[in-house]
Amino acid sequence: MEEQNILELKHISKQYTGVKALDDVSISFRRGEVHALMGENGAGKSTLIKTLSGAIRPDEGEIVFEGVSHAHMDPHQSMELGIHVIYQEFNMMPELSVAENIFMGQRIGSGKLFNKAITEERAQKILDSMHAKINAKETVKNLSVANMQLVEIAKALTRDVKVLVMDEPTAPLTDAEVETLFEIVDMLKKKGVTIIYISHRIAEVFQISDRVSVLRDGKFIKTVPTSQVDRDELIRLMVGREVSDTYPKRDFTPGDVVLELQDVSGNGVEHISFAVRSGEILGLSGLVGAGRTETMRMVFGADPMDSGIILLNGQSIHPTHPSDAVKLGIGLIPEDRKQQGLLLNLPIFTNISMATMGDISHFTVLNSRKEKEKVNHLVDTVTVKTPSIAQLVRNLSGGNQQKVVLAKWLAANCKVLIFDEPTRGIDVGARHEIYKLMNELCRQGIAIVMISSDMEEILGMSDRILVLCEGRQAGILEREEFSQETILSLASGQ
Ligand SMILES: Nc1ncnc2c1ncn2[C@@H]1O[C@H](COP(=O)(O)OP(=O)(O)OP(=O)(O)O)[C@@H](O)[C@H]1O
Ligand SMILES: [Mg+2]
Repeated sequence: MEEQNILELKHISKQYTGVKALDDVSISFRRGEVHALMGENGAGKSTLIKTLSGAIRPDEGEIVFEGVSHAHMDPHQSMELGIHVIYQEFNMMPELSVAENIFMGQRIGSGKLFNKAITEERAQKILDSMHAKINAKETVKNLSVANMQLVEIAKALTRDVKVLVMDEPTAPLTDAEVETLFEIVDMLKKKGVTIIYISHRIAEVFQISDRVSVLRDGKFIKTVPTSQVDRDELIRLMVGREVSDTYPKRDFTPGDVVLELQDVSGNGVEHISFAVRSGEILGLSGLVGAGRTETMRMVFGADPMDSGIILLNGQSIHPTHPSDAVKLGIGLIPEDRKQQGLLLNLPIFTNISMATMGDISHFTVLNSRKEKEKVNHLVDTVTVKTPSIAQLVRNLSGGNQQKVVLAKWLAANCKVLIFDEPTRGIDVGARHEIYKLMNELCRQGIAIVMISSDMEEILGMSDRILVLCEGRQAGILEREEFSQETILSLASGQ
């Protein structure tokens, strides 16, 4: 073992039915480095990490940690050794306090009592040391996703963490929150902690990583010092082919107004008025908490509105439940796809068909050949990586689950589609496919509202941009007025 390596994965393989998730992967990690792990959706990144945390056992290979070889890890041992994994889906108890979550499974104070005051005090100390503006007494479910992320890191800091793994930590974060996270990563690195960092955002991999390893189809491709690779080369390593420019051109000939909001208030937002035309993409920008999702959930009937008018093709509508909205032809592809979009224990096929059937009781009809062809076509269109559409959604990689949600709504024949963070967690190749697909939907006359925290995406895809700030409308920009500076200053209320 090289002296500076804290961890070496050697010849790791893991087979699932129909999928070789990992195929003879060997990667070494150095003490105190930020090591990015990249690859397309389904490449095997999360699976590799799960062998490290002991969540799964590899079929073959060894894990050498500080010179000691292990055939596999078990979760307790992995934690004792100083390995801490923050998963794509958090692992917290939403009803408990921040402090209780941070010290989960540890006993604080004398005797057997779980001492609340001491726990809170210690938790607060850790949070303060991270410059996190979080109250340790707060209930976790009341936190923003960004702050939950920080609580996860605080959890790692209560133990003597040597290797911290973050699986797509910034996917739900805004730019400012990402900066905070990076400061903490820097601080940990200076303490000699090794950070394994999984992300689909190429720019940030260049910003914070020292080295980057690429996986493709379960195989190890290469480890390179980040300074010795450029964006195009990295994409080529991941995808295995050239990928064309990210924002495909589209001729925009907007039709009639499809969706219009007149002075809509409620659900934490006030006086929102805008119109989206057929064939148009309206970008919805703003900081997290600005009310973007809240506004669109009222349109979708998921949350009640207090006042104002919503018009669909000129007719006033009053959706009081998402099923009303779906019947009217309004679809919402939610931000939190795990909770709002998918039935994890059912196959891909059923999840997608449901959108057209509307009702699971029509199960028998699902077997029709036409329906299968349609689903297969959609699965191909959004490039879900799976051996079959009979695969349970829970067995798909994070990004592929998102693609299933997209496919589901494409099947539903909507007039208005609301995309909430459409490409979060989606790899660079598939991203391009999804953009092309949105353009195709526009060509078919659908009106799209796209909520996005990704500045490049908002600028690249929108025909107009509505910026919200603290629950109010800060401005609507026409294409000629688009710029990052304008959006940011509107979003921050300047
Ligand atoms: N329990 C399982 N049963 C069957 N297949 C699985 C299981 N877990 C993972 N897979 C498959 O293994 C492959 C690798 O998945 P993994 O989650 O590691 O991908 P990933 O690189 O993390 O992708 P993403 O960027 O989308 O998160 C995928 O094809 C996935 O469907
Ligand atoms: Mg993953």
